[in-house]
Formats: sequence, C-alpha cells, structure tokens
Amino acid sequence: MDIRDVIKSKCASVEPFLREYVSFGDKTIQEMVTHPIEAGGKRIRPCLALLACEAVGGDSNKALPAAASVELLHTFTLVHDDIMDHDLTRRGRPTVHALWGEEMGIIVGDTLYSSAFKALIDVRKNGVPPERVLEAVNVLVRANGELQEGQIMDMFFEKRKTVGEDEYMTMVRKKTGALIEASVEIGGIIGGASARQLDALHTYGVDCGVAFQVKDDVLDLTADKKDFGKPIGSDIRSGKKTLIIVHAMKHAKKGDLKALLSILGRKDATDAEVAKAIGILKDSGSIRYADAKVEELIQEGKRALDVLPDSQAKESLKALADYLVERRT
Ligand code: IPE
Ligand code: IPE
Ligand code: MG
Ligand code: MG
Ligand code: MG
Repeated sequence: MDIRDVIKSKCASVEPFLREYVSFGDKTIQEMVTHPIEAGGKRIRPCLALLACEAVGGDSNKALPAAASVELLHTFTLVHDDIMDHDLTRRGRPTVHALWGEEMGIIVGDTLYSSAFKALIDVRKNGVPPERVLEAVNVLVRANGELQEGQIMDMFFEKRKTVGEDEYMTMVRKKTGALIEASVEIGGIIGGASARQLDALHTYGVDCGVAFQVKDDVLDLTADKKDFGKPIGSDIRSGKKTLIIVHAMKHAKKGDLKALLSILGRKDATDAEVAKAIGILKDSGSIRYADAKVEELIQEGKRALDVLPDSQAKESLKALADYLVERRT
C-alpha cells in the first residue's frame, strides 16, 4: 500500500477524536477552533504515534486519544506560528488570524493547546496503566517547552545577520524535531516499549523531525503553491535563517550574496524578487545541500529502527521516513 494510503487509513479513526476534544456549544467558537482542523493537513504526527505503538507490540486502538493529542498540539503551534510568521494561508485555506484577527488566533491556539492535554490524559480510560500515561504527559510537556524555545530562537535568528549551521540545527531540533520525536515516543510508551526500543524510537524521531523541517524549508522555495497550501517564499520575506540561507551565506558568489541580502527579510519583496533569490539559492548549490542533508538524516533515522522486531508497522515507519524526503506538500 502507498504510504499516503497508510496514513489516511491509520488516521481515519483519529478524526472523530480530534473533533471530540474541541466541542463547544457556541457555533462561532466551534467554527473558529475546528477551522484549522477541518482544513486537513498530512496527519503525520498522529500516524507516527499509532505506528510506534504497534511497532513495539502495543494495541494502537488504545493510543487513539494520544494520536489526537499530538495533532491538536501541532495545530495549536500552526495557528500561533502563522501569526508570528505573518502568513495568511495554511492548509490551502485562510489562516485563523486572517479570518478572525490576531486576538482570536491567540485564544484559538490556546484552546487547541489545552485540548491536547485533555486528550492525552484520557488515554487512561482505555486501560493504559497510569504510570505510562504520566510518562506520556511528561514527554508532551517537555516537547512543548522545547518547541516554544525553538520558535523563539527562530524569531531571534530573523534579526541576526548570520547564523551557524549548528545553531540552525539546534533551533529546528527544538521547534519541529521535539514534537515529531514526542509523537513517536508517546506511541511507544503507550505500547509498552522497553528502554532500548524507546531509545531507538527517540533517535528515529529526532532524525526524521529535523529532516522534516529542512525539507519544509526547501519546499518553501520549490513547492507548487497549490499543492503546498502555504505561501511560497515566506521564509525569504521573513528573513528566516534556514539551512539553505545559512549555506548560501558561506558559498554564494559575492555579487549574488549582495543581491540575496537586499531581498532577504523584506516583507514587501515582489514575487519577481523572491524568484531571483530562489535562483541565487539554486546557483549556490544551497538547495541541493539541504536536500542531501534530508536524505542523510532519513537514512540515519531508518537505521535506528533496526533494533525493533520485524513488523508491518516498522516497515510503515520506514516508508513514512522516505515519504518525508519525497513529499511535495
Ligand atoms: C508544518 O507541519 C509545520 C512544520 C513543522 C514545518 P506539517 O507540514 O506537518 O503541516 P500539516 O499538518 O501537514 O498541515
Ligand atoms: C514551524 O516552522 C514550526 C512550528 C513549530 C509550527 P515553519 O514556520 O517553517 O512552519 P510553516 O512553514 O509555517 O508550516
Ligand atoms: Mg515559523
Ligand atoms: Mg511558519
Ligand atoms: Mg516553513
């Protein structure tokens, strides 16, 4: 089965849980909070949680509220991220703050945030031992803290002239890697993983999580706007120090670098200027460099799974890792 179909069928049973945890009597509140959920999304994190649970021999039906939990937390981060990044399109639709204003965007994000923890705690109703639930909550709390820290670093870096590759890696490991890693770990914990298995899942999650963000940075420059569902070149206009920019700052030709810096971070840059910046990033080999990094990280992540027993779920985790490299959305 194609991995996209695996994700779809695995996550079909998560959808009702997503809605259950964001039910409100008031119609407008309901519309605002469910808007970013109804818009879709790839549902990678819940799928990772369910597959990790199965890969260690657990019953993924018991992990359904946990899978909903990581997607709800992810959706919260997207709603706030779009305010911070000034982006008006997400999942092919207008963002929450574009429709209802930044004030509402903040509180809608907060609502999704608390619903994520409500969902995770409900795993105990499925007969999962309380100590496992507590451990899973601990993982989510820790990941959430790291994620916020990564998002702050990301914004600080916008204002910095240069950022080192190590600093970039630390930032994305926190802002994106932390939740992807937590999704896998939470699935494993609920499934009763041994310490050695959890360690393997952790490595897989970190590598895939970082690769996922590097690929997102590439797609910000190279994706088809219609498929991507988000604006193209947003990172250029915001002055984000993506791996591609970090590389170009060291390797682009002098004249090209000057032209690039005259466009980077200008909110009012025209589409033609953004296209020019993208051309420079192609010529400097920076996009190729980032793509190679994604590939390398994914191979490492997949190797970490070797310690798990052979299973369909383990194969799907590997296929999902490959999909993270190949994706166009
Ligand atoms: C977007 O995540 C935010 C990043 C961490 C890059 P996804 O690409 O998983 O977004 P959806 O859920 O599919 O919309
Ligand atoms: C976001 O990174 C990471 C989050 C924690 C949400 P981006 O800002 O690159 O994500 P997109 O491209 O807006 O989805
Ligand atoms: Mg951002
Ligand atoms: Mg963003
Ligand atoms: Mg992005």
